[in-house]
Amino acid sequence: MREVAIVGAGMTRFGELWQSSLRDLFVEAADEALRAAGADHVDSIFVGNMSGGQFVGQEHLGPLMADHLGMAGVAATRVESACASGGVALRLGFIEVASGMSDLVLATGVEKMTDGADVTNVLASAADQENEVYHGITFPGLYAMIARAYMTENDLTEEDISWVAVKNHKHGAMNPKAQFQHEVTLEQVMNSTMVSDPLRLLHCSPVSDGAAAVLLCPLEQARKYTDRPVRIVGSGLATAPMALAHRPDPARLDAVARSAERAYGMAHVTPGDIQVAEVHDCFSIAEICCIEALGLLEREAAVKGAVTGCTALGGRIPVNTSGGLKAKGHPVGATGIAQTIEIFEQLRGEAGDRQVEGARLGLTQNMGGSGASSVVHIFEGV
Ligand code: COA
Repeated sequence: MREVAIVGAGMTRFGELWQSSLRDLFVEAADEALRAAGADHVDSIFVGNMSGGQFVGQEHLGPLMADHLGMAGVAATRVESACASGGVALRLGFIEVASGMSDLVLATGVEKMTDGADVTNVLASAADQENEVYHGITFPGLYAMIARAYMTENDLTEEDISWVAVKNHKHGAMNPKAQFQHEVTLEQVMNSTMVSDPLRLLHCSPVSDGAAAVLLCPLEQARKYTDRPVRIVGSGLATAPMALAHRPDPARLDAVARSAERAYGMAHVTPGDIQVAEVHDCFSIAEICCIEALGLLEREAAVKGAVTGCTALGGRIPVNTSGGLKAKGHPVGATGIAQTIEIFEQLRGEAGDRQVEGARLGLTQNMGGSGASSVVHIFEGV
């Protein structure tokens, strides 16, 4: 296998972007990534996208996006793994370059959620239709059940969950691409509208539009495109039963733990080596569960991570310095690539006010649905 580096990145602002269509968003992000690296061609494109068909009536995104980027003719493939589509697109791009099949690959993600679709029902199509959705469950409902299970097993309070949102909004307030660039107080979070008990509005990621893209090439060619490449040193993908009822313990995210083990093994590192992480906080409870499953903190420390400041900027292991899905936004198919871009910038020392001093090793974890798929990547600044 060849070593693979990221040499360019581009991303739209996340939010309700009514002036831009699905293809506009894609082209803006992809064009920025190519320009950043001074590249005028690619061999292949992966487009992470959860549900263009249901959100805006557009499927077959590979050729459409290649054409609108002015690259009709290149290999182009749409990749779907619900909210983990972007992370899986990165993994496929990584494998394609590592294998020697292609030299320059764009790994991208895009989603347009605010054009009038029945978003809650579209998202629910990533849950188990026969065992869950038929009975009326939604994603806030699934994560509320995970939260209740976790609260029953542990000393976890609504206040602990709320601090995660406070922290991520604080980080997002420093991110010019974030959907929400304002801080929130603990009182605002704990008094926000109840969505699905115990999860309130300010525990939820929003409905968002956006796109993100990174350019990959063999490490040995990276200096042609940038003097600060970031190497992908580990990649792990795993699955778990989709229905919560089919899992041994709904509060345990086994796919996250397995994908992390695979990525740590490939990178020859341990969780303690990671200096900055972007994890999938689609609901604030998910950040706590994922930090534990990734082994970044023991369960008790994970529960209190945001309360103690351990997971905040300046803390022992800063998590979601971008603002996370909560504040940066969650255009589902784009999220995994946006997480990658935050770590890319951190490892290049380009994260501005959000910079984690001296960060050399970073991790992203991107999850599909209520945790039925999870993809973890580990990156090293070179
Ligand atoms: N966090 C903070 N503010 C939010 C928000 C969120 N998650 N969602 C909406 N808002 C704000 C809006 O900006 C708007 O503010 P304004 O009145 O100042 O303009 C206000 O709340 C009402 O927005 P609206 O779009 O009407 O909210 P909604 O009630 O339709 O949707 C949720 C709120 C929580 C139901 C929706 O954001 C949601 O479904 N989130 C979860 C998405 C999801 O499941 N993703 C997949 C995860 S696996």
